[in-house]
Amino acid sequence: MQTTLLSATDTVTQASKTFSPSENFILRARLKNLSQYQALYHQSIENPEAFWAAEANELHWFKPWKHTLDDSKKPFFSWFTEGKTNLSYNCLDRHLNTQTRNKAAIIFEGEPGDERVLTYHDLHREVCRFANVLLGLGLEKGDTVAIYMPMVPELAIALLACARIGVIHSVIFGGFSSEAIRDRVLDARSKCVITMDGGYRRGKFLPLKEIVDAGVAPCPCVKHVLVLKRHRDTVGRDCPMTPGRDVWYHEATARVTTHRPAVEMDAEDMLFLLYTSGSTGKPKGIMHTTGGYMTHAYATTKYTFDMQAEDVFWCTADIGWVTGHSYVVYGPLLNGATVFMYEGAPDWPNHGRYWQLIEKYGVTIFYTAPTAIRAFMKWGDEWPAQSNLTSLRLLGSVGEPINPEAWLWYNKNIGFERCPIVDTWWQTETGGIMITPVPGCIPTKPGSATLPFFGIDAAVLDEEGNPSDHGLLAIRKPWPGMLRGIYGDTERYVRTYWSKWGGKYYFAGDGAIRDQDGYFWITGRVDDVVNVSGHRIGTAELEAVFIENHAVAESAVIGASHELKGQTLIAFVILKSISAGIDENWLRNDLNRMIETKIGKFARPEAIVFVPDLPKTRSGKIMRRLLRDIAEHRELGNVTTLADPAVVEAIRERFARLKTSTSA
Ligand code: WT7
Repeated sequence: MQTTLLSATDTVTQASKTFSPSENFILRARLKNLSQYQALYHQSIENPEAFWAAEANELHWFKPWKHTLDDSKKPFFSWFTEGKTNLSYNCLDRHLNTQTRNKAAIIFEGEPGDERVLTYHDLHREVCRFANVLLGLGLEKGDTVAIYMPMVPELAIALLACARIGVIHSVIFGGFSSEAIRDRVLDARSKCVITMDGGYRRGKFLPLKEIVDAGVAPCPCVKHVLVLKRHRDTVGRDCPMTPGRDVWYHEATARVTTHRPAVEMDAEDMLFLLYTSGSTGKPKGIMHTTGGYMTHAYATTKYTFDMQAEDVFWCTADIGWVTGHSYVVYGPLLNGATVFMYEGAPDWPNHGRYWQLIEKYGVTIFYTAPTAIRAFMKWGDEWPAQSNLTSLRLLGSVGEPINPEAWLWYNKNIGFERCPIVDTWWQTETGGIMITPVPGCIPTKPGSATLPFFGIDAAVLDEEGNPSDHGLLAIRKPWPGMLRGIYGDTERYVRTYWSKWGGKYYFAGDGAIRDQDGYFWITGRVDDVVNVSGHRIGTAELEAVFIENHAVAESAVIGASHELKGQTLIAFVILKSISAGIDENWLRNDLNRMIETKIGKFARPEAIVFVPDLPKTRSGKIMRRLLRDIAEHRELGNVTTLADPAVVEAIRERFARLKTSTSA
């Protein structure tokens, strides 16, 4: 099947069809029509503080806050000043005196088929136990720990345990390499790394501890590595342990109780760090704090997913990304919901795995990424058709623009035209959902994230900051889940997010279109960040790796659209003259291997093209736009500013030659 990735511009101009929420959905929904949304949105934007304060008041505070928002030190905002709360308390303890106590909090299935159900009460005990182990290792409120684990309940437990005692977690996605772990551990000065002997993926047991060992060997800040066992009852596979530093979790728990009160956290105490890519070579440690993040995660989960007591919510994201933080762990548990968690891949042991799980566990809300939806489409309609998907009532999409063709397929083959689709736009930096349909209220258009969430003043602006129907996505008022900064780099925080419009508005780094109904259509990143299968990768990170190779003089990496991955990385590399005659395939392998060891396999470029030169302006700036035109087989845009127009033809020819040699 040929999938076409239309750009948002093409999509908006094709008079797109509007889909209204089904009667059945509306019957149960919390909010039921557009005017309800409009009234509540209007109120919330007139007075965002009142909206957020009301949401925060549904949660538990040990001590009430003084000011809902302190904007006196813009762009350093504080929310719920002087309020005291605890996120782990609100996810767990708050439910223990209610009917939720014995309800499933997490339903888990491992890839080999092992099953586990943890009720809220069970989860509370496990989290207390885990928190006690962390305290036993000498960790204190304000310390940072890195977490590198597969998608198993212990990962959620580890996050909640940290939050319980004020330890800052920095989760590192399991696909990152040792060197990427090292960079993140050193930057955050993590005192401990929490990991597991391994996890299951496509029928194999992938060891993780060895990767951690190689990463933390040169990190003096790491005092302990806490190691969990994937299967408690299996005779442990060989797992290297460094005496004095490494601790088996199952041994440490023998000495602790399941009682541990949650510490009172200031609303602005740091909750977590999460590293993400930007437009320079160094990943940014995005800082999130307690009270605002909690309130944002709670409210967006409640309204966007219309979360109700009977729901079984499955967000397929890995907890290694922000989607997993906010919508696998914190948001659903704050709402007392049942979360379904799966360890493995969607195509193992067959392409029907996800649909079988939805049927088996009666999943009612399914939240996944466009790249996955396009893969499901490619695998064929027969796979979902083999399972009973009638439990589903709501579908979601996140991570990249969804092409209308994938949206329509999802609507028909998974939602049976009964389930609204919420296409949710947000970022690691925003903490939670920002632009999304409120299901039951907002009619959807395939490819549009529709309208802003309550309290969110989203706008499309031109370079000068004036509203425009085609321009840059901006957020004009602060919101509680917003990042509080980049760890250790205040200047970069101000420059990246607040310098575009002179400190007035938040700059998201995305382009957007606003149509005649006020709907937002996200057109993709306008900086050098590429979104490959929902993984955010900075092109400068790859360029920094290539330049370490002695054969390389210079490189430019760009993102080109790809029918399955959304975008893919194409590298244009200039070799040094001393590298003349070098075997190109050998060098290509070498460069790929470097990307794997320095970042991770998922960041390997789709193509590495060796070129004699790069298209540059007379002042020496690389014109990446032209490289994208070449990679996407388009007419070249304006070339008049090029220092040497002949260069692009040479590049085009090399690119075409590589294509034919790889497809042959
Ligand atoms: C970037 C943020 C949000 C959690 C997962 C990714 C793109 C995200 C959408 C959407 C169009 C989207 C943007 C954004 N993006 N959701 N629904 N429609 N684009 O978080 O890794 O911080 O990436 O993902 O480009 O800036 P992230």
